[in-house]
Amino acid sequence: MAEKVLVTGGGGYVGSHCVVELIEAGYCPVVVDNFSNAVRGEGDVPESLRRIENLLGISIEFHELDLLDRPGLEKIFKKHSFFAVMHFAGLKAVGESVEKPLHYYRVNLTGSMNLLEVMQAHGVRNLVFSSSATVYGDPQRLPIDEQHPVGGCTNPYGKTKYFIEEMIVDQCKAEKQDWNAVLLRYFNPIGAHSSGLIGEDPQGIPNNLLPYIAQVAVGRRKYLKVFGNDYNTLDGTGVRDYIHVVDLAKGHIAALRMFKDNCGCKVYNLGTGTGYSVLQMVKAMEKASGREISYQIAPRREGDIASCYADPRLAEKELGWKADFGIEKMCEDLWRWQSKNPTGFNNGTAS
Ligand code: UFG
Repeated sequence: MAEKVLVTGGGGYVGSHCVVELIEAGYCPVVVDNFSNAVRGEGDVPESLRRIENLLGISIEFHELDLLDRPGLEKIFKKHSFFAVMHFAGLKAVGESVEKPLHYYRVNLTGSMNLLEVMQAHGVRNLVFSSSATVYGDPQRLPIDEQHPVGGCTNPYGKTKYFIEEMIVDQCKAEKQDWNAVLLRYFNPIGAHSSGLIGEDPQGIPNNLLPYIAQVAVGRRKYLKVFGNDYNTLDGTGVRDYIHVVDLAKGHIAALRMFKDNCGCKVYNLGTGTGYSVLQMVKAMEKASGREISYQIAPRREGDIASCYADPRLAEKELGWKADFGIEKMCEDLWRWQSKNPTGFNNGTAS
């Protein structure tokens, strides 16, 4: 029997790509999600999951549930015996978190606490946590390795990632013999599944660069605002470590394998190790899409840093994982998804 893995936030961008990789690796994912940002398809099924079902020809068990609903969560843990949990559910918009900090703390921290307590009560002690390079704050050195100081991030969203990491670290310390956790610090996930059936579908105006560029390319937005061209970088625009979401998802499968050896609490960067500027990404998307992408230079965005890229060697050494795809493939797959689904999951036809 396939080992069951609970996937919180499995309907979202990274979560849904992990669901695909879990199934392909022979696991049985059970999804818990409040589907707060989800588009519904036939029979009210969240479209991302419906498309995975069509793509892989299987059905996926999912529960529409908020992690704040602790009795509801208990029920799912009573029904199943999980080998591990992958925890993606949470709010993630940096700007919104500055405006509504208490909301972010309640949803992200209380939701995670409920999950950890219910895991503890039901003897499920293997956890993969979706963390972020944001925990490093403004980098003191580049590339960023896992030893880099953490906690320096200034927005509430980033702080919730840091606090959740700390809760997990402390729980693993207290229950040394039993608990295993892998904290994965993502750099900038982009791209989409190569089928073009699932991808990132931000509701409203995209906050992140690549979804915005893709919407300009497809004609949904007129031009990109480049937030600052006076940074100390190769062309003055911000530099980030973009990683293909499928590579990222494979990193989670590698993390699951660590549990077989009772790994304790581990932390890994998931990035490629190479940084690209905003203008380099504009060029790469122009090439992938064959469309011109208009842009204008705008003032810096508050809270942005000049450069951020990973030292990903620890993940390679210990997880046996490294990113395979470069920016060409990331942009090609992003363009396939965006051009097949100009309005995201809403168009409902690309099945
Ligand atoms: N950018 C633009 N125009 C846009 C959007 C972004 O010029 O419309 C620039 C930014 O200034 C930055 C780069 O593109 O230089 C990347 O910006 P993103 O918003 O795509 O990504 P960030 O690195 O700012 O943020 C990401 C995640 C956050 C996480 C953070 C740190 O979205 O959740 O990395 O790890 F907190």
